[in-house]
Amino acid sequence: MIKQEQFLEVKHLTLQYKTNGFLVTATCDVNFSVKEGERLILLGPSGCGKSTILKAIGGFIKPSYGSILLNAQEIKKPGSDRSFVFQEFDQLLPWKSALENIVFAIRSTRKVTKEEAQSEARKLLKKVNLQKFADSYPHELSGGMKQRVAIARCLALKSKVILMDEPFASLDALTRQKMQEELLGLWADTRFTLIFVTHSIDEAIILGTRIIMFSSHPGEVIEELDVDLSVLGSEYTALKERISDILFRNRMDYVI
Ligand SMILES: Nc1ncnc2c1ncn2[C@@H]1O[C@H](COP(=O)(O)OP(=O)(O)O)[C@@H](O)[C@H]1O
Ligand SMILES: [Mg+2]
Repeated sequence: MIKQEQFLEVKHLTLQYKTNGFLVTATCDVNFSVKEGERLILLGPSGCGKSTILKAIGGFIKPSYGSILLNAQEIKKPGSDRSFVFQEFDQLLPWKSALENIVFAIRSTRKVTKEEAQSEARKLLKKVNLQKFADSYPHELSGGMKQRVAIARCLALKSKVILMDEPFASLDALTRQKMQEELLGLWADTRFTLIFVTHSIDEAIILGTRIIMFSSHPGEVIEELDVDLSVLGSEYTALKERISDILFRNRMDYVI
């Protein structure tokens, strides 16, 4: 049996982009591991390589140095064991309704009848409070609603690992808070392993069971913290200050 700590391992990960003959180092010698069922937050300033790390875990970018192991197998390409929710609101197929977007995801990964897929998709839309919008098309939905469909579609894939790249960053504060609560509810239902990228300290504390903090470009891990919101209470502010101190120490212009 695989030890919990070894569920997902990022080892000496350096990620680089080659553009017009120039080499841009996005992250440098990054190491961390993720336990199964954990909600891990990658927190750091813009440009520190958070999205690049997530894409590498997704299998879309190959390491220049180092490796990423999932269940002791090196990640070399995208796979059904990992699914992605992006920051952008335009990740749905615009010519398909909310329901059809989810049905399409289900049927492209599993052999089920159209009726079975539709019934499953309806249940998922209910979970994200969109049952009334099953037949709406993406252009008829607000940003928050589209992100809800994207999350439902991601859950439909039943991947063990869910990768989210600032999915709530462009939402208004109230919708964002609601979506965070919903996400925690969905996680409590199925206990997927969540790797969530954000540059918001509040979001990191609310959503994470553990936070990994990165220095500014090129991103290196500067600190790891365990979080337990249920016992935090009045310590919330202290924790928030501690995190912003750590980030400030590494980048003077960090915006909270
Ligand atoms: N497609 C790309 N080509 C070249 N450089 C890139 C590309 N994507 C990102 N970068 C660079 O890599 C670094 C990390 O980017 P990114 O992972 O998007 O950071 P973050 O998500 O933390 O804001 C930045 O310096 C960025 O300019
Ligand atoms: Mg990013």
